[in-house]
Amino acid sequence: MENSDAKLKEKIINLKKRRNAIILAHNYQLGEIQDIADFVGDSLELSQKAAKTDADVIVFCGVHFMAETASILCPDKTVLLPDRHAGCPMADMITAKRLREKKKEHPKATVVCYINSSAAVKAESDVCCTSANAVRLVEKLGDAKEILFVPDQYLGNYVSSKTGKKMILWPGFCPTHIRIRPQDISRQKAEHPQAKVIVHPECRPEVIALADEVLSTGGIIRFVRETEAEEIIVGTEIGIIHRLRKENPGKRFILASEQAVCPRMKLITLENVLWSMEEMAPEVKVPARTRLRAKVAVDKMLEVG
Ligand code: 13P
Ligand code: SF4
Repeated sequence: MENSDAKLKEKIINLKKRRNAIILAHNYQLGEIQDIADFVGDSLELSQKAAKTDADVIVFCGVHFMAETASILCPDKTVLLPDRHAGCPMADMITAKRLREKKKEHPKATVVCYINSSAAVKAESDVCCTSANAVRLVEKLGDAKEILFVPDQYLGNYVSSKTGKKMILWPGFCPTHIRIRPQDISRQKAEHPQAKVIVHPECRPEVIALADEVLSTGGIIRFVRETEAEEIIVGTEIGIIHRLRKENPGKRFILASEQAVCPRMKLITLENVLWSMEEMAPEVKVPARTRLRAKVAVDKMLEVG
């Protein structure tokens, strides 16, 4: 098994050179995918990386909206998503049509969309954000009369509590983060009283209320690197533990809930990464009209950084 993984990795590395490809992987990817990636990061860092690369091909090891964002930013590159079924269920909780209907109810509202949304939804939005910059971005909106935040009600609720701005929230949520319950955090805290609790803002407010820090996955990576704490309770998707352990061998990580697994993230495997580069498929390409409108919202997000 290990031997065949080694062979696959070698083939991937060789083909990557021939195709002038870059492999970008999200922090929730399987360990073996993170290990072969050129860059591993959160949604914001991955978009920044995609925007800057001079590779001809971007192999996106993540979910569909991430590959779409890369296509919005790099229309002349080939963006591959090794499994076409790797979509984000939260992103699918809103469509451009339903957003247009909601906008009619609130014609003056500024629409802020979480990056976990389709390109078509981004095209209907004024500004895009990730969990790393949502608070800063909403603060920058100044005295916007009404803000419509889509599709994650929990991130929206968190941003609203941090900025003091009232927002209209779309009722979307992440089916993975919702599995982390407040009692999971309380139990882990009782068992590990010295541990710091870090959670992702997609968690429910009752979970967020029990956390020491609320951070994007990239923020979690940085916080752990810098903290003196030796034990950390991690309230997000299981995949991040691989990187945390690899980069911080002296620290101990306790996953808040074993249930926090995103099945779509796990669809990307060494086999389909190789296959996608061989076949140059499945390709993710956003049509020009949608792309140009969505890019306005994405560019505003990158300006804030
Ligand atoms: P990050 O941008 O924090 O990596 O989050 C992406 C995501 O899908 C979280 O569920
Ligand atoms: Fe979507 Fe949740 Fe999976 Fe992130 S963890 S990709 S928000 S379903």
